[in-house]
Amino acid sequence: MEWLYIIAAALFVIGLKMLSSPETARRGNVVSAVGMLLAIVATLLNGHLSFTWIVAGIVLGSGIGAASAYRVKMTAMPEMVGLFNGFGGLASLLVGWAEYHMHPDAPTFTIVSIYLTVLIGGVTFSGSVLAFAKLAELVVSGRPVTFRGQHIVNGLLLAAAVLFGIIFTLAPESSYAILILGVILAFVIGIFAVLPIGGADMPVVICLLNSYSGLAGAAAGFVLANDMLIVAGSLVGTSGIILTQIMCKAMNRSIANVLFSGFGAAAGTVAGAGAKGEAKSISPHDAYFALEAASSVVFVPGYGMAVAQAQHVVKELADLLEANGTEVKYAIHPVAGRMPGHMNVLLAEADVPYDQLVEMDAINPLMPTIDVALVIGANDVVNPAAREDKSSPIYGMPIINADQAHTVFVLKRSMASGFAGIENPLFFKDNTTMIFGDAKKTLQEVVTEFKAA
Ligand code: TAP
Repeated sequence: MEWLYIIAAALFVIGLKMLSSPETARRGNVVSAVGMLLAIVATLLNGHLSFTWIVAGIVLGSGIGAASAYRVKMTAMPEMVGLFNGFGGLASLLVGWAEYHMHPDAPTFTIVSIYLTVLIGGVTFSGSVLAFAKLAELVVSGRPVTFRGQHIVNGLLLAAAVLFGIIFTLAPESSYAILILGVILAFVIGIFAVLPIGGADMPVVICLLNSYSGLAGAAAGFVLANDMLIVAGSLVGTSGIILTQIMCKAMNRSIANVLFSGFGAAAGTVAGAGAKGEAKSISPHDAYFALEAASSVVFVPGYGMAVAQAQHVVKELADLLEANGTEVKYAIHPVAGRMPGHMNVLLAEADVPYDQLVEMDAINPLMPTIDVALVIGANDVVNPAAREDKSSPIYGMPIINADQAHTVFVLKRSMASGFAGIENPLFFKDNTTMIFGDAKKTLQEVVTEFKAA
């Protein structure tokens, strides 16, 4: 069945490649899923297995997965992904543990793999469950929890994990208790690693935990000597790390800064002191006249569009603008919203054509030629302080240069800051006008004006 594994691995790689563009992403998902189906079929045909348990597991797991995916709201997607990563880690932990239970006399390489599987799987499980609970604000506040000597405690926990690993490897047959202690330690490490991270940074952490779940899977592949699991786990591990790096780069922060700085603590603070003059505001009715006369409009969506669920009315307005002869584009910032590809997913849901979605680097040179930039619930990703103010905490973060358009309309409910908790000078620029209110409601009013005209 090795040839089936090779085909499945190739499909994973092709599917991953296709996921990198919105145009091919849906098909990429199907290609990867077919690869996974082949891998499962090949594995089932390979061994002497009890199909009763396997069928029961497939029915139960598919039922839970389908029901959760169907019911989850788009804004809650990061927490669902977080929870599912955790289950992946737990599954690997149980595989490693079961293998040790059956073969405590396994060769040293397998014993080391078992310990790594249990350790990484345990950290992934408890860290992911805590990340889920923080994001869903279930049991703990989403804010970072820090205490004196936290890094020392974490260092000691890691040292203990290494020590237990050495003892377990040297005398596996008499070390059942050490393995159980390793499991408990892994759970504690996972919790202590996620506690100091602010709720708003959690999507980055979830990507990192996703990568850990892949590494745990790859380690389980070494335990079972299963090539497919090693390949699939490594792909998840590396793609998770790459995605984590992309997110950190787009925020101009290092992974260490996300993990240890408690940055999310600042979220939600309100701008005020240091405001440069008064921000102007107009009604949707007045904004209609500027939009009606514009020959080019760029929508700049952000987290607020997700909160308001305004993507469908955005598309409706875009259609009306196009019918009026206006050229329409959407400027997509890599970390707009709260999860990778957040804006792409929302706009795809509203059937926005992919060729109108323009990445930050491609739209920025065009910005000075655009008549109206319509900023919909975006804040940090259009903050010119990132470009101009060396003292700003987000200085250096790449942004969409919405401020360079001839006219900027910012749709949000108040002058409150975004995720980074800092004031946005864009709101006070001469060419910027605020349109206060829920983005969906504001856009509906503009659409009504267009239809009445
Ligand atoms: P933010 O800077 O978070 O700003 C969102 C704005 O939406 C808020 O200022 C809020 O203002 C407004 N808003 C909320 N509800 C609204 C509604 N119903 N109608 C209209 N406006 C509404 O968002 P952004 O510009 O998308 O930037 C994303 C931030 O998240 C970045 O700092 C990024 O680094 C961070 N982050 C992103 C990710 C990923 S992967 N995307 C992961 C972690 C962190 P009001 O309250 O005044 O309405």
